[in-house]
This record gives sequence, structure tokens and C-alpha cells, in this order.
Amino acid sequence: MTHYPSLAKNYGATPFNAVKGDGVMLHDDTGKAYLDFTSGIAVTALGHSHPKWVKAVQTQLEQLVHCSNLFGIPGQQALADKLVSIISTETSSSPGRVLFCNSGAEANEALMKLARLHGQSKSKGKEGVCYEVITAHNSFHGRTFGCMAATAQEKIQKGFGPMLKGFRHAELNNIESFKAQMDSKVAAVMIESIQGEGGIHPSEKKFLVELKELCQAHNCLLMIDEVQCGIGRTGDFFAYQESGILPDAIGMAKGLGGGFPIGAIWISDQYSELFQPGSHGTTFGGNPLASAAANAVIDIIEEEGLLENVRKLSKAWHSNLGKLQAKYPDQITAIRGRGFMVGIGVNNAPKIVELARDKGLLIVPAGMHTVRLLPPLISSESDLAESVAILEAVFKAL
Ligand SMILES: Cc1ncc(COP(=O)(O)O)c(C=O)c1O
Repeated sequence: MTHYPSLAKNYGATPFNAVKGDGVMLHDDTGKAYLDFTSGIAVTALGHSHPKWVKAVQTQLEQLVHCSNLFGIPGQQALADKLVSIISTETSSSPGRVLFCNSGAEANEALMKLARLHGQSKSKGKEGVCYEVITAHNSFHGRTFGCMAATAQEKIQKGFGPMLKGFRHAELNNIESFKAQMDSKVAAVMIESIQGEGGIHPSEKKFLVELKELCQAHNCLLMIDEVQCGIGRTGDFFAYQESGILPDAIGMAKGLGGGFPIGAIWISDQYSELFQPGSHGTTFGGNPLASAAANAVIDIIEEEGLLENVRKLSKAWHSNLGKLQAKYPDQITAIRGRGFMVGIGVNNAPKIVELARDKGLLIVPAGMHTVRLLPPLISSESDLAESVAILEAVFKAL
């Protein structure tokens, strides 16, 4: 494990240099290949270097990389159309609008700015009257000042105080806890459909439905952070879709570009006029190259039936992981998650990550007691079976 001398130490020491990716495999600079169930932390949804994605990016690279949002970008418009149709077909006929940015934190910043604009409109143009956002304990929304304050985890905020004000926290899957935080100062609720960094804790269907009702009753926005769990990871394009609700706004990033940085928020029709020219923006957001990458991701997910792949294969995979838990109950304390987003409760997550890596499987810790398995959506039955076999060898050796 090493820290490269001229890099800042905000990341831990790294076990190897990654130099090549190829489908579900990641290769290091000594020629060793690993089954990559990190997917770059839920980013490379199509695996590494999917040929159709590479072609789409290459074609765009030769045509136009960047031009700013001063000009219309056909690929960005096509991408917005696709996202709008994915979201509106499920529950509502109201299409809404999309705003592009470059990362998950930026998407959530845009959601929080939307919440402030909504709060101001609720209080008839007065600022500072209705601006609070309720988020869940143990959540993770990113590392900017707004996102840090929204993230109800001390370890994320430590050392960076004072935090931006205007955030309250409640307990995930406990509607009474959210009710207790709700009053006329609250402009929005923001939650992850499945808490990722917090250890793979899904929001229950009933809870999401009740939360939507609560938000409606108080005229506040329900904003869903789909940055980690979205873009097909659960077998639905967005994880919230399983609940049948329609949020007021959705944040996404990670898998959207398949490895090329892009983020976005979708805003429902009712609130889509809150952003007006000059109110928000970013130089790179949705530029031609990023949009081409994301268009390719969505097209390939559809063409190759990857949502079905996740739904079909995850049943046996979860069941085999369950069998592993039954075999090693002292070492596996829980199996949580949906589709290709699974958390395994363990005693020492960094140790399990290390042992799995030694045996050729890459997984990610989520805190000290959960390891996350985030296979690319293209993973086959045998890739998933191999992950279980390697984990079995890990737990057996302990
Ligand atoms: C749910 C969630 N929201 C937001 C973020 C922040 O995204 P980014 O790292 O792209 O800023 C993350 C990153 O892990 C995340 O998991």
C-alpha cells in the first residue's frame, strides 16, 4: 500500500496502479487482472471500455468536445429527452426538465438551491424564512459545503466547521421521525433511495410513499439522491421507481456517464420554472462529449436489456450470498441491498476487502462493518458466481 509522494493524502494509500479495464476486469501494472465489483464506485455501469460506448465517445471527440451552454447542444437535448421519458413514463404524464452538471455533489447542490428557491416562493419572495432541508441520519450526499452539511455523518463534517446552516436530520424508514422535524421552515426533504456510503440501507417502499404524502401535505419538495443507486443498478433505472412515487426532483451522476464525469438533476414540471436564466450554471455541465457518453450509456442499457439482466441474475446471486451467510453466521452479520447494489455486514470491512483483492475480487468498504458489491450491469451469471466463490474462500480462510 503506497501514497504517491506528490499527491495530497486525502485518499488512503493504494494497493496497486490500475492501467487497463476490459469489461468486468480491471488490470494492474504488473499484469494481474481482478474481477471489478467496485465499478469505480458505481460508475462504470457498462463495465470498462464497452466497445459501443468507446465508439460513441470517440466519434464525438472528433466532432466537438466542448462549446459551453451559450449554445444549444443537440446531444444534451437528446439526453434530457431520454431522462424525462424514463422518469415520466412510470408515474406521471408531466415531463419536467433536466439541468446538467459534472458530479454527484454538484447535482445535490443544484437540488439544494432548488429547495431554497422553492422556500422563497413559498414565503412569497422573502429569503431566509423557509429554507430548511431534512436529510436522513447516516446519509451521504457529497463533499461540498452544502453536501457536507446535508450529510448527517460526523466523520464527513469533522474539521470543516462551521457547517452551512439549514439542515435537520431524521431517521431513515421512520416517518414519525421525519414528521417530528417538519414545520413551516422546511422547504425540502432529501434522501437516498438506498444509502450507499452509509452501508447499503434501502429506503422502504412504504416509507417513500409516506414521505411523499408528508411532503405534499407541507408543500415541500421531495428530492431523491440517486447518485449511487440510480442508472440501472437496482434493476430499475432509478431505485425510487420500485415504490411507485414520483419525486419532485432527482439528483444523478456516477453511472450516468459510464466513467465520463457528468451529473444532472431532473425537476418536475411543477417546479421547473424555479431556475430562470442566470440563477444557476456551470461551464462544463452536459457538454457535447459528456452528453455523448451518457447517451451511449442509456442506449446500451436499453439495447442490451441490462435492467432485465440485473433483475434476472440478482435473484440467484442474492440467494447464494444468503447461503454464504448461513454458512458463516459469525462473520457475515447481514446481507442488504437490491439488484447489483449489495452490502455485506462483516466484522472488519477493510480486512475483507484486502483478502478478496488478494484472491482477485475488488469490492469497496462502506464504513468499518460493511463491504459493498457493485458489479457492472453487464456482469454474467458466472461473474456473479465467481464473486461468491471468492468470498467463500475469504470467509473460509478467516
Ligand atoms: C448518494 C451519493 N450522493 C452524492 C455523492 C457525491 O458524488 P460525487 O462524488 O460525484 O460528488 C455520492 C458519492 O459517493 C453518493 O454516493
